[in-house]
Amino acid sequence: MKIGIDKIGFAAPDYVVDLADLAAARNIDPNKYKLGLLQSEMAVSPVTQDIVTLGARAAQAILTDLDKTQIDMVIVGTESSVDQSKAAAVFIHGLLGIQPFARSIEMKEACYGATAGLSLAKSHIAQFPDSKVLVIASDIAKYGIASGGEPTQGAGAVAMLVTANPRIMVLNNDNVCQTRDIMDFWRPNYDKYPRIDGRFSTEQYTNCLTTTFDHYQQKTGKTLADFAAMCLHIPFSKQGLKGLQAIGKKDPESLERLTERFHEAIVYNKLVGNIYTGSIFLSLLSLLENSRALKPADQVLFYSYGSGAVCEIFSGNLVEGYQDYLQPDRLEVLKQRTRLNVSDYERIFFEEIQLDETGSSIQLPEDSSPFALTKIENHQRIYRKA
Ligand code: CAA
Repeated sequence: MKIGIDKIGFAAPDYVVDLADLAAARNIDPNKYKLGLLQSEMAVSPVTQDIVTLGARAAQAILTDLDKTQIDMVIVGTESSVDQSKAAAVFIHGLLGIQPFARSIEMKEACYGATAGLSLAKSHIAQFPDSKVLVIASDIAKYGIASGGEPTQGAGAVAMLVTANPRIMVLNNDNVCQTRDIMDFWRPNYDKYPRIDGRFSTEQYTNCLTTTFDHYQQKTGKTLADFAAMCLHIPFSKQGLKGLQAIGKKDPESLERLTERFHEAIVYNKLVGNIYTGSIFLSLLSLLENSRALKPADQVLFYSYGSGAVCEIFSGNLVEGYQDYLQPDRLEVLKQRTRLNVSDYERIFFEEIQLDETGSSIQLPEDSSPFALTKIENHQRIYRKA
């Protein structure tokens, strides 16, 4: 049975900061961000937009009423959870009006969670071919003002509908994972921002890739020559490029082709920043919507990496007519976001919800987005759908 991605959607918050402005404010050469990190802009989420509202918005963009009656599992992968106990998927299930007899869960392993969700969705469809699974990767990447990771921050969500006989991409059964108990990027329960061993994290990203790819090649017999394109986890675009170069150095011909596709696969990531679990799938969306070189049946290689660390290499094949299920004007939509100066970015991105003695929010800013957090009442988050 063919199982894979039938639909894919994306949502970013409506605010953005130009990294040239951030560089000027931090007294850093703008080329460090533009060329050194290969990033141009970063999405900024106000306090009324969290992983629930962004996830619901990404999913709402692709789901029909019929889909909502057929989905029987909602999986949200995230690093930036809103609750230690209740799954964001339960809030999203409610906001979208998905039929009640569904399983809704959250998965965590840094930037890898949604990839695990995709595998679970695939197994579920193999068992129940008539069902549909909604997999959402939703994150807000915040490192703090003037921190090393600040120019790689971002926010956004990717939603994928996983079904039998998918219309965009068939996922193959060639997955190879690796787990390494390391501390390269982590966030203790008492911390707002992650703790990072920056240089070590970049080395681990690449070493996990090269060692897992060796194992993948041994297991599957596939080589880089078999792939039309590669999508990697993109904490910042230069990291993905370095990863590709590390596995491609023994095959310059494939590396040249995959590098051309790579630049098409980071068009959106450069404008949004890191969205942790969703970054690899935003890269897929960018590839599909910005490449004219791809053909049906082309095979795409994936490298998912979550610090801590778990990684996975897998592949998928494009389905004839996949272009009909995309959104060709997405770049235009991204250009319409409100540009913030650096002091407004600092005020909006790092604003904290103030609670009174009953656990209720004082007053949240107005937000006209399709889904928004309106208030907290007795420690309960209250969302509204426009
Ligand atoms: N012009 C052009 N390039 C310049 C430059 C200039 N004026 N100044 C510096 N650069 C280049 C540097 O040469 C370097 O490029 P190379 O790595 O190719 O040599 C690049 O810009 C970055 O410079 P630094 O290494 O000096 O930057 P830094 O130390 O300030 O920070 C970082 C880099 C450690 C990655 C930091 O951004 C960070 O901590 N990021 C968060 C952690 C992260 O993203 N890790 C990635 C792997 S972990 C993961 O993937 C999970 C996840 O999502 C977090």
